[in-house]
Amino acid sequence: MDFTMGHRKRVNGKTVLDWLRETDPRQLARLYAAADKARREFVGHAVHLRGLVEISNHCRRHCLYCGLRTENCALLRYRMRAEEILEAARTGLRLGYGTIVLQAGEDPALSCGWVAELVRQIKGEIGLPITLSLGERSEEELTAWREAGADRYLLRFETSDAELFRRIHPSLPGNPSDRVALLRLLQRLDYEVGGGVMIGIPGQSYASLARDIERFGELNLDMIGVGPYLPHPATPLANGAVPPAEDQVSGNEEMVYKVIALARLVCPEANIPSTTALATLNRVDGRERGLLAGANVIMPSLTPSQYRPLYEIYPNKACVFETSEQCAGCLRRRIRSLGRVWGSGPGRRVQMAGGMARTNPRSFAAEAVGLTV
Ligand code: 5AD
Repeated sequence: MDFTMGHRKRVNGKTVLDWLRETDPRQLARLYAAADKARREFVGHAVHLRGLVEISNHCRRHCLYCGLRTENCALLRYRMRAEEILEAARTGLRLGYGTIVLQAGEDPALSCGWVAELVRQIKGEIGLPITLSLGERSEEELTAWREAGADRYLLRFETSDAELFRRIHPSLPGNPSDRVALLRLLQRLDYEVGGGVMIGIPGQSYASLARDIERFGELNLDMIGVGPYLPHPATPLANGAVPPAEDQVSGNEEMVYKVIALARLVCPEANIPSTTALATLNRVDGRERGLLAGANVIMPSLTPSQYRPLYEIYPNKACVFETSEQCAGCLRRRIRSLGRVWGSGPGRRVQMAGGMARTNPRSFAAEAVGLTV
């Protein structure tokens, strides 16, 4: 029997594509409840906190959607010193976060050796698992960083539509981008691997977003990050560079919840954050509602206050004017208000024991939530 939840296959008599088009609040409540149940049964009550240090906003790329793109001369650029990064990591440890995430634009000055040494220092002193999110890097670099002790790597593939990806993410000369191949390389290097997409990119159709969700399952991702595309006025994509698809998908709040829920049902064991981009769309309770629709991770910023406004991948980012301590306090309250618990330990992806779950956790999820797939 094939339990795979592809966009043409059925869940509760509906395809993933049908679910993306669903607008009936009662039906959607059923979807979120099913995802929340799968979340509870597969990854439990803990909300894992990953402290995010945005270590550099330099970027050699020309992505049409991102405020860090090279062409954005209005942006003041920064690169944190190793000691500043270590200090932020110490803060993360003190605040009780389970992982330190080092993220940056694709900054060539973050050299292979420098990053490897930084990873060694943080692992040596702080001891927490380290996630890197430094863009498309060479096999040599990814290998060296893994050897230095990096545990995880995040690289969203943004959209599974190859043509749309090519348009919004121009390749560097002589070096065609293939993020799916990179994700597979990262898996071979034994990283825990995270991918994901933006929702509502101009040119992104419903069918294309349904395929993205299918791709999460095919890639067997450990972590899945999804959030709304938020137009940045200093980028071509915000200024009509790509026309809307005939069947353009919206990047509204509801669509984000649907994608989180479907991602949970496709990859029930994955770690799925309720993202800052979602919290930016709904500052009141976007984070909580993401956590109620299948998410189990939050990535609070540990970036020092003076740099936060400069890591402007999209405008009006939530939490930019808060300190790390304020973010931690705010999140503790939000997690408690949901009756969930602050995750302890590294929050690794745990693969379910047991033959059936191991061979096809999706079938397991479907049964756990009583879905006819
Ligand atoms: N809106 C929303 N998300 C964005 N990202 C980059 N630019 C934007 C934007 N304008 C996301 C991409 C990238 C991640 C680090 O931030 O998905 O992978």
